[in-house]
Amino acid sequence: MDTKKIAIIGAGNVGSTLAYTLASKNICSHIVLKDIKQNLVKAMALDISQSANAAKSSTRVTYAQEGKDIEGCRLIVITAGLPRLPGMSRNDLLLTNAKILKEVMNEIKEYAPKAIVIVVSNPLDAMVYAALKVSGFPRNQIVGMAGILDSARMSHFILEKLGYGAGQIESSVMGGHGDDMVPLPNFSTVAGLALTEVLSDEDIEDIVEKTKNGGAQIVKYLEKGSAYYAPAHATSLMVEAILNDKKEIYPCAVMLEGEYGFNDIVSGVPVMLGKNGVEKVIELHLNQSQKELFARSVDSVQQLVDTLIENDFLNQ
Ligand code: NAI
Ligand code: 2OP
Repeated sequence: MDTKKIAIIGAGNVGSTLAYTLASKNICSHIVLKDIKQNLVKAMALDISQSANAAKSSTRVTYAQEGKDIEGCRLIVITAGLPRLPGMSRNDLLLTNAKILKEVMNEIKEYAPKAIVIVVSNPLDAMVYAALKVSGFPRNQIVGMAGILDSARMSHFILEKLGYGAGQIESSVMGGHGDDMVPLPNFSTVAGLALTEVLSDEDIEDIVEKTKNGGAQIVKYLEKGSAYYAPAHATSLMVEAILNDKKEIYPCAVMLEGEYGFNDIVSGVPVMLGKNGVEKVIELHLNQSQKELFARSVDSVQQLVDTLIENDFLNQ
């Protein structure tokens, strides 16, 4: 196994931007792009490889013609699937993207069964759950990207409100990547200062609402898809933490096994990422109201999982 070779399945907006970001950062030896759109994937591989050469990065970028081309990958990112369109919620993508995800996971199981998998496709938490169930992989091996993106959005709205502190804002968002995600103002800081020291309760409430609506706001303006720069950058941090065994803590979607009082369901919580994928799940001390919001968010994911079960999507 090449310890720095990765594949990105889905060379659309998020997948190609992620490949570009990773190639520019020079942290992978080889990126294999795979997509069902053959001309698109060839174009992306050529353009991104040429950008890597312009940047004097040593990352090779190629495209896959068949499943076998992902053999030897240490890590695989799944960005295949339909994006949201105006008027659609992430949940509207459930059955279509579950079908795509199952195909992709079967291929990973066959050609790269030891790879750590980062799922990006929506609805995120249900897709992570499905990926675990259809593959039978252990929970450390499959993790979802959303919390870093949602936290970056919260930081953006804090900066917009404050007008200072750029680059010094640490935000925290837990729960599922849906309308009832749980932004955590009391775990968020500006240069180490508690948010409550620099903003009023009213401002904080406004930031929380804007964070929850952050993805939909971009979908509305874009009209034909959803955000990709921030999602790609957020995913690149996870790739880097795993490939370089950085043991960094990020909010990610992971299977809960008793943590926060939940079992056999996926939600976004702080985890430590290293060479084995999810190496630790961290339990924050939530107050009563945050516990209730987290439970509501978990329940929304459970409803999606129930729909997948009813439609027979989770068998191996
Ligand atoms: P996109 O439409 O630009 O790209 C998706 C690509 O997947 C397309 O090129 C399509 O041909 C490809 N694809 C479909 N079936 C495939 C298969 N079986 N194998 C390989 N490739 C396949 O969409 P975009 O904007 O890149 O978003 C991708 C997914 O990521 C969507 O589901 C979107 O909702 C999700 N997303 C999740 C975020 C998160 O925070 N978790 C953030 C942003 C997007
Ligand atoms: C986002 O939050 C649609 O999940 C995607 O931008």
